[in-house]
Amino acid sequence: MKIKELIINGKTAKFPIIQGGMGIRISLGKLAKACMNSGIVATISAAQIGFLRKGFKDNPMKENLIALSEEISNIRENNPDGILGVNLMHAMNNYQEFAEFLSKQDIDFIISGAGLPVDLPEYIKNTKVKGAFIVSSARAARLLLKSWDRRHHFMPEFIVCEGPLAGGHLGFTKDDFDSGNVEDLESIVRTTKEIIKPFEEKYNKQIPIIAAGGINDGHDIASILKSGADGVQMATRFIASDECDASDEYKDMIIKSKEEDIVRVESPAGLPGRAIRNYLTNILETKRIKPKYCVNCLKTCNKSNIPYCITEQLGNSSNGDNKGLIFTGAKAYLITKIESVDEIVKRLIAECKIDLSFN
Ligand SMILES: Cc1cc2nc3c(=O)[nH]c(=O)nc-3n(C[C@H](O)[C@H](O)[C@H](O)COP(=O)(O)O)c2cc1C
Repeated sequence: MKIKELIINGKTAKFPIIQGGMGIRISLGKLAKACMNSGIVATISAAQIGFLRKGFKDNPMKENLIALSEEISNIRENNPDGILGVNLMHAMNNYQEFAEFLSKQDIDFIISGAGLPVDLPEYIKNTKVKGAFIVSSARAARLLLKSWDRRHHFMPEFIVCEGPLAGGHLGFTKDDFDSGNVEDLESIVRTTKEIIKPFEEKYNKQIPIIAAGGINDGHDIASILKSGADGVQMATRFIASDECDASDEYKDMIIKSKEEDIVRVESPAGLPGRAIRNYLTNILETKRIKPKYCVNCLKTCNKSNIPYCITEQLGNSSNGDNKGLIFTGAKAYLITKIESVDEIVKRLIAECKIDLSFN
């Protein structure tokens, strides 16, 4: 078995690895450029990307759009041909406005998770930008495919299947985790591969299935490719890179974390998230933290009753405050040093090739 290239929007990535989008301000231009230069696909996250801009609290939408456009132009200056996407969570308020804005930018795809982006094709259908979605079950993939087919006659460029070991918001409820009702990544990939077949036939188009969540080294990549995935999406591994846009303090938390430091936290998005245990997660075990301000970020946020404000806490941590929310994937504890993206990618590919050559 060989490592295949990944084709998105007519462009080819040398390796089938997508660097997953990470908000707030964790995956931006610096990381994107390094990933594209190393032959993999880059994703920036739209989530409150304007957080550090002066007028953010007064007019978050305006500042987010300015920040997005600046970030994209900056990346494209030296990387016109790399594959670049924007992660736009469906749970965000102003989703339509963001998607319509992004459909006119020099990017290759918009990818949406954190909800079911049934309406995404409407905003990108007649543009150069492709659409993709993130799901945590074949059932959700089928629902979206059926809806995109029936309502828009439109198919995703690829689908990311995200398992229970992922970072950021998780596609499983607290009850799912408590009752053990969580499907593992291999199984989600296998069942999703099955359900896409009739759609691939109808549209005469291949829909790559990309596996995400807990993929940390080249052996993990080889194993999931053998299970039928066409590629992987990795996020946490790239936080511990020289080029990642996260603060040094954030990177330090990742490389110093131990297995027992990685915990699940409730999020105002209505889904559990995964984070590194710190001042914030300890406080949240018994208390709520009253938000200092509200930028109306999430459709799903029940403002009067939330344990904390996600924009405030993720924003603080991305800005170097280790008392904020430090989102991470479940395998962060296996990462022990910060390296360049190129070193990481080269080792991932070398490890993966060794395992695949035994097949
Ligand atoms: C710090 C962090 C922030 C993230 N932010 C987002 C986001 O804004 N939107 C999203 O859809 N996924 C987000 N994710 C999920 C990743 O894009 C990715 O799919 C997932 O973390 C893969 O698992 P891994 O981290 O184990 O590689 C985030 C993950 C991390 C670790």
